[in-house]
Amino acid sequence: DKKLAVLLSGRGSNFVAIADNIARGRLSGCRINVVISDKMSAGGLDEARQRGIDTLVFPRKNYDTKQAWEGAMIAAIEDRSIDYIILAGFMRILGDAFVESFPQRILNIHPSLLPSFIGLDAQRQALEYGVRYSGCTVHFVTSDLDAGPIIVQKVVPVHSDDDEESLSRRILEQEHIAYSEAIDLIVNRGFIIQGRRVELQ
Ligand code: GAR
Repeated sequence: DKKLAVLLSGRGSNFVAIADNIARGRLSGCRINVVISDKMSAGGLDEARQRGIDTLVFPRKNYDTKQAWEGAMIAAIEDRSIDYIILAGFMRILGDAFVESFPQRILNIHPSLLPSFIGLDAQRQALEYGVRYSGCTVHFVTSDLDAGPIIVQKVVPVHSDDDEESLSRRILEQEHIAYSEAIDLIVNRGFIIQGRRVELQ
């Protein structure tokens, strides 16, 4: 089985969805080896402990430089021979040193239809713009923010009475489906990257 490291900063519902799909045999060919967080208080760490999955915490403030912080995470991931790094609500931007250490090995989920609404508060950006459809995107991470090759997208309607919470909830439901689909494509079906496209090998 391929070894996954999940990186998260918050409640970890995407992590839980992936872990449950693996536990129930709906996602095969991979195991979550470790959950890594930059936040000691992340709810996702408790979810990992409850499932008997190793956890590691790398608070940014414990390191003098971004380089040292990333270096510690790179070393921990290399030590464990991780195959794929799964960003699931990891709310810090990873620099070139990190991204270039794991080429085509880092996936991220973003709560919009990329390339629209990159960065923070994507759901609020979508509401403020007034789009009628939004959704989520699972993509490879490159050194350009939220701009790597797209693996899976799911679309949801935006309702006229939506607020940030109701739209986020509708998108999150699709995130929980999309991430496992994307991992399956990459881990089990031999997708490779060519330019911005992702092709079957
Ligand atoms: C998810 O909606 C994810 O798409 C988003 O954070 C949330 C994490 O939820 N990520 C980003 O906005 C990345 N820029 P979770 O902790 O319950 O998985």
